Amino acid sequence: MKIAMGNDHSAVELKNEIKTYIEAKGYEVIDFGTNSSESCDYPVYGEKVGRAVASGDVDYGIAICGTGIGIGIAAGKVRGVRVCTCSEPYSARLSRMHNNTNVLSFGARVIGVEMAKMIVDEWLDNPYEGGRHERRVAQLMEIESR
Ligand code: RB5
Repeated sequence: MKIAMGNDHSAVELKNEIKTYIEAKGYEVIDFGTNSSESCDYPVYGEKVGRAVASGDVDYGIAICGTGIGIGIAAGKVRGVRVCTCSEPYSARLSRMHNNTNVLSFGARVIGVEMAKMIVDEWLDNPYEGGRHERRVAQLMEIESR
């Protein structure tokens, strides 16, 4: 399974921690950067992650900036992307099971590495339930065509 990762300058260290963590779990990571601490613009990296997911080149995306908000908004602008921006594992889990999210974002200035690992575990380990959620997720995607 392939995961796209992208981040801004605020999240290089956390991205590397999470990258190592999920590679050890058997995921292949496509790293879209940045890998520099020089100030950069989070929309650039959010879009890269979103496009990799929407094109099917990867299965999922993980995007990290200072808050997780800006890079999550950017990824979610790409047609076909459903983003979960969160700071705790419960929402991450339910976003997979009920909303079939395909990009996870969080903030390097908001949570620590151990919380980030718990969030990533819940998000990656819990599959979409389908069933009663299918209609609502379809309605979400229909918004893109209006
Ligand atoms: C960068 O300073 C910061 O604005 C960015 O990392 C992020 O928090 C935006 O949402």
